[in-house]
Amino acid sequence: MAKKAAPKEMQRLDKIVAHITGWSRQQATKVIRDGGVVVGEEVILNGAAKVSISAPLVIAGFNDDLGDDDDALWLEDGAESDAVALGVSAQEALSAQVFLLNKPANYVCADRDKNHNVVTTLFRSERNCTNLHCAGRLDIDTTGLLVVTDDGALIHNITAPRKEVNKVYLARLDRALPKHAVRRFADGIKHPEEDKRYQGAKLTPLTPLFHELEDGESPQGHWAAVQLSQGRFHQVKRMFEMVGCEVQELTRVAIGALNVTSAQVGTSIGAYYRLTPEEVELLFTNKDYELSELEAMWRCYQEAVATAELCYLPPKLSAARSGSSELDAALDDEDAALEAAQGDFDEVDAEGNFRIY
Ligand code: URA
Repeated sequence: MAKKAAPKEMQRLDKIVAHITGWSRQQATKVIRDGGVVVGEEVILNGAAKVSISAPLVIAGFNDDLGDDDDALWLEDGAESDAVALGVSAQEALSAQVFLLNKPANYVCADRDKNHNVVTTLFRSERNCTNLHCAGRLDIDTTGLLVVTDDGALIHNITAPRKEVNKVYLARLDRALPKHAVRRFADGIKHPEEDKRYQGAKLTPLTPLFHELEDGESPQGHWAAVQLSQGRFHQVKRMFEMVGCEVQELTRVAIGALNVTSAQVGTSIGAYYRLTPEEVELLFTNKDYELSELEAMWRCYQEAVATAELCYLPPKLSAARSGSSELDAALDDEDAALEAAQGDFDEVDAEGNFRIY
């Protein structure tokens, strides 16, 4: 995996401020000149001054948090020491931010969307994250593991088809899998909306596991796990469609060797945490999961759903439980609109920017 170059220890203040805040260099220079930036305990007025990237920075209007009056930062007794405590080190801001989110339903993986919540709004309280993007896309009604980061190279490495990062999905289906499904998934399914056959995928029916559950524990529907490394638009749903099954609930439970049973957010839909470098490596460690491991992930997901806030439940799950098909129709319309707007959900350019159609 490509690594970012280590940042230099001493950097121009205006550059650092612009990077941390996402402001233009001009805007940053003006705030610095107006006395709005404290480095360590010192107000520095010259944007060209070189400062240590490990010094805490407090920037008026960005992370001063001392109310609407910018002057309060500098003029009130004791305010400066409070401000220093709020400081963001440039080193922290300059290094890549890598989060693992357990994506809730009803959020879209896009930079902007007029009609839906976008995933990155869940990170609003993160102080120094101004450029976060999703590494790949999950449908609006799909839940589960999603990397959200400002590291374009990492996004590329996770989503580029030739990197073949392995992902595992659990799907609840409307009917039992036909006998030929496992072989058809392995051979590579052709969907009429796609030019090429999908790459082979490993399909594991999970429903037999429910015979081992206590009476009354048996969930509705038929469950299966899919392990694949491609990420085409609606791929899992479309593969099941071609064997005559409808996906009623879909969740991603593993990326590489990192899965819901090992990740901190596994049992908490809507939660995220910062990945360690070792965990980032796990994303690229391909793993062929056995039935017992898939069952453990299914149990972990069930626990997450049982404890999730209502708004985080996949809408199709709620609809299926209440027997309503209206919501399904609404979601199909939304999916069609998203497909038209986005193209394939794995299409990201070399810089990690999503291609807009
Ligand atoms: N496949 C799908 O059909 N939907 C997703 O969200 C991810 C994979």
